[in-house]
Amino acid sequence: MPRILVTGGAGFIGGSLAESLAKEKTNDIVIIDDLSTGSKSKIPVSKHKNVEFIKCDVNEWRDLSGVMYAHAFDYIFHYAAVVGVKRTLDHPVNVLKDLSGIKNLLYFAKNSGVKRVYFSSSSEVYGESIHFPQHEETTPLNSRLPYAIVKNASEAYLKSFQHEYGLEYTIFRFFNTYGPRQSKDFVVSKFIARALKNETIQIYGDGKQMRTFCFIDDNVDACITAFKENKYINDVVNIGGDIEITILDLAKTIIKLTKSKSKIEHLAPLPEGDMSRRKPDLARMRKLLNRKPVPLEEGLKRLINNTTHIL
Ligand SMILES: NC(=O)c1ccc[n+]([C@@H]2O[C@H](COP(=O)([O-])OP(=O)(O)OC[C@H]3O[C@@H](n4cnc5c(N)ncnc54)[C@H](O)[C@@H]3O)[C@@H](O)[C@H]2O)c1
Repeated sequence: MPRILVTGGAGFIGGSLAESLAKEKTNDIVIIDDLSTGSKSKIPVSKHKNVEFIKCDVNEWRDLSGVMYAHAFDYIFHYAAVVGVKRTLDHPVNVLKDLSGIKNLLYFAKNSGVKRVYFSSSSEVYGESIHFPQHEETTPLNSRLPYAIVKNASEAYLKSFQHEYGLEYTIFRFFNTYGPRQSKDFVVSKFIARALKNETIQIYGDGKQMRTFCFIDDNVDACITAFKENKYINDVVNIGGDIEITILDLAKTIIKLTKSKSKIEHLAPLPEGDMSRRKPDLARMRKLLNRKPVPLEEGLKRLINNTTHIL
């Protein structure tokens, strides 16, 4: 029975991953989360007997050690992090604390028989790219902001522990992901929440920033295939969507789908951190997904019908 630790499992992606892992009755899952942005309502603990929740701050060695000593984990999905463009820009010192989390986990993992660590990195490691689509090997990592630097340094930690101690890893570089369980700090859920209340939708700058969006089921299914089929060991995989849309068109699409009366208001551009374009090379992810990704309008409709966490 594989014993799996999911950090950040009371959050959007971690909670969705844990829910999917829990369907396999032979998986024994422990979720840890400090509930800083997550919530107990996102944890699939009541529905599944094979899921346990422990409130714990990964960045605090003393807090984490009890969990690690009490369980002999086979696999770790490290998804806990300070997230959100505004939050990470406003609280860079907090963001930097996440370097302790990856370091703590890796030291415990190497000494306690963990077979592999899966890590949620981010498209932000590419920084403001001039190279599209962004490829895992060939696109330079221009990370400059603390959030991106922490993800980049965490990737370096994983590679170094593999090199020196043989601890296996898989790095997932997530691009914009959306779906039920996401908090309304994020663009898609924020726009939907406002559209459903006919409130003004605010956009930073002219809204011509190009983005791609990945529905949560595509993210989780691809990551679980990598896990179950032992794919991309000691490797990096972009996980995202590859159909580009401007933020302005996203707002218009959401207004159309919700039949909303919301108006669009343009705010001053963010001083930094709002990249003009992101588009992943998804050749590796396609080999994991083995089906067509959920189209944006279809994913938006599913989220509009399941707004528990955003209204
Ligand atoms: N959502 C996206 O589009 C996206 C894109 C790129 C990368 N990511 C990465 O994916 C991961 C999950 O993000 P998400 O969108 O689900 O965000 P989220 O905020 O919903 O989930 C993060 C969870 O981590 C928890 N957490 C934060 N710091 C912690 C700590 N020190 N100890 C324990 N728990 C802690 C929070 O309470 C929360 O439940 C993060 O690592 C994030 O950087 C997400």
